[in-house]
Amino acid sequence: MNSRDSVAAQYAAHVGPGMARLLSFAGFGVEVRAEGCSVWDSEGTGYLDFLGGFGVFSLGHRHPRVLDAVRRQLEAMPLSCKTFFNPVMAEAAERLAGVAPEGLEYVFFSNSGAESVEAALKFARAATGRPGIVATEGGYHGKTLGALSATGREKYQSAFRPLVPGFAHVPYGDLAAARAAVGPETAAFIVEAVQGEGGIIVPPEGYLAGLREACDTAGALLILDEVQTGLGRTGAMWGCDHEGVRPDILTSAKALGGGVMPIGATLGTHAVWDRVFGENPFLHTSTFGGNPMACAAAVATLEVLRDEGLVERSAQLGAVLMDGLRSEALPLDLVSDVRGRGLMVGVELAMDEVGELLVAQLLKRGVIVAYTLNNPRVIRLEPPLVVSEDQVGRAVAALREAVLETQELLAGVV
Ligand SMILES: Cc1ncc(COP(=O)(O)O)c(C=O)c1O
Repeated sequence: MNSRDSVAAQYAAHVGPGMARLLSFAGFGVEVRAEGCSVWDSEGTGYLDFLGGFGVFSLGHRHPRVLDAVRRQLEAMPLSCKTFFNPVMAEAAERLAGVAPEGLEYVFFSNSGAESVEAALKFARAATGRPGIVATEGGYHGKTLGALSATGREKYQSAFRPLVPGFAHVPYGDLAAARAAVGPETAAFIVEAVQGEGGIIVPPEGYLAGLREACDTAGALLILDEVQTGLGRTGAMWGCDHEGVRPDILTSAKALGGGVMPIGATLGTHAVWDRVFGENPFLHTSTFGGNPMACAAAVATLEVLRDEGLVERSAQLGAVLMDGLRSEALPLDLVSDVRGRGLMVGVELAMDEVGELLVAQLLKRGVIVAYTLNNPRVIRLEPPLVVSEDQVGRAVAALREAVLETQELLAGVV
């Protein structure tokens, strides 16, 4: 029994009335099946997935090679004893280090983006013996207490204060502010290569390279949070590759599990690992982190990215999407900007409080999108990297129609 009303009632009674109201308002039904770039609800209606699970479904839904790898691992040994050598984790670590920016040789596996950030923050403090973390306003790094202390939005922080001490925030993209904030007490500067939840903000040219320099000058570490930007999303393997910047620590999650398994990873240099784990390999651990099913999915994901040329595809299709949006949506009154990198694209609206309405209008036209968490004025488009040109065209046309109808609705209200 999957009827929308009964699931909505279960949500209202046991998940949360607020979430039940929000999903109902936007017109979301009950998800039951997915394949490639498509998702179907319990009524049999198909949707084009242009949200891609906030960056999770880079290979599309249910990629056969990932499913196959996970099924095989399920039959052999789904979880690790944690006492033997775990060969699947070792393989995933080697493969991930093999595609990482130079110098990132070691990998700690966890289960989510926030966990990968927690590990990064802890490693930075342990490696430097310093307390300070500098992060960016509007940045998003997750909602566990440490990650939340780095996440730069008061709305998500205020109910949980006091947060972890030692965190400071500077405006994203402002190199002078970053230089002034990084000092002898700074363990690390943590930053996204493109701010995702902050509203798909691409930093000015040279920003990441400037941060690298500022950290080097102060003896601090640079942490690149590539949970959303990593693995081809921005048209390069890593967002920091656009500037050839090598961080000391890099986080990955979301797409790493191929849209099939949850997994997080924190990569670091030999110098970082030596100082963190040199004396005690148990200094930071996770029961389920590095489990064989998730690692089998990660190995298959990295193979698919390479074999299907998805990083290059992201750059090509991203350009098609951006061109389409600039010519079809940007001229409309309600749209104030179209920006992004690769297949990480944001459409900024000229008014507050209409994002949800536009999301609902797009859903009515069979396209799934969402607004960015720290900036509800921005509708984000993060389709699977396997999206076709035809599907991009359909989404752009639907967005244009949805904006036009939203404008009409607003004109009726005002
Ligand atoms: C850049 C970045 N870091 C960390 C996270 C947190 O990941 P998770 O929701 O898996 O904890 C996110 C999630 O959107 C993210 O975009």
